[in-house]
Amino acid sequence: MKRMIIDCDPGHDDAIALILAHRVADVVGITTVSGNAPLSATTENALMLTALLEVDTPVHAGAAGPLVGEPVHAAMVHGESGLGTVDRIPHSRHVASDDAVGYLLDAAAEDIWIVAIGPLTNLAHAIERDPTWTERIAGIAIMGGSAGVGNATPVAEFNIYADPEAAARVFESGVEVVMCGLNLTHQFLTDDGIAERLRAADVPTARFAAQICDDIHGRMESLTGRRTAALHDPCAVLAVTHPDLIETEARAVSVEVDGTLTRGMTVVDQRITRRPNAPNALVGYGIDAEKGMAQVLDALGA
Ligand code: BDR
Ligand code: CA
Repeated sequence: MKRMIIDCDPGHDDAIALILAHRVADVVGITTVSGNAPLSATTENALMLTALLEVDTPVHAGAAGPLVGEPVHAAMVHGESGLGTVDRIPHSRHVASDDAVGYLLDAAAEDIWIVAIGPLTNLAHAIERDPTWTERIAGIAIMGGSAGVGNATPVAEFNIYADPEAAARVFESGVEVVMCGLNLTHQFLTDDGIAERLRAADVPTARFAAQICDDIHGRMESLTGRRTAALHDPCAVLAVTHPDLIETEARAVSVEVDGTLTRGMTVVDQRITRRPNAPNALVGYGIDAEKGMAQVLDALGA
């Protein structure tokens, strides 16, 4: 099994990613970051997920805000709690530490992947504290950015938009990056049929995931008119555990930190008429959604 640390901001799709990862990989730790909701909420949600899963994976709380500027949250999509109105699971778990960055540095090993599914603030701090960190890990699979449409702005994806300076440092660090952006994750959708299958499977993770689907489908219906939601974050887990399901191309990716219209955009060099810039990332373009969803449903217990 692949070993990984999940850096996350749960988050509906982060929650599904955490469940998936614990079933198909060896999750050695979880680090949390401000993103979909404030750090206190994302950390509480991560702890609650470990209780649901009945695992002892340590949760280390990380950055409460981006490198520059004020925290950006996504309450319209994930609610104030980060998990909308999904039933809370009572638990008595506590964080292992408030030093996610120290944990990331200490836990580094050549077979450990970092699966980064929130803003990249913790990772940027780790690189700043020890630039050799990127040489001591297997690589970083990111849900973030896009080789196409944005969501936080017309051209910027939320995780990158919430901390563009951090994202720029990660993409410029020389580490092996696999980027699962919106152009990929919009191919991997849940709908009410999936929610029904989850509800029918009478196990705690499936019941929880059915509630997640119901909540996010309702929010997406108000926002887009369609009762479907992209399973963004599980794509980054699958990129490590099932790379055969994801088509990638080596590309040069830069993060716009200045543009008034384009701040937070991942600029992907896809030129064919001129020599493109040297690649620094494997960019996901296609996913075998049927096989990927079978993996997710199996992991959830449906
Ligand atoms: C990303 O932003 C968050 O809202 C999701 O959890 C996902 O990580 C999608 O843009
Ligand atoms: Ca996320």
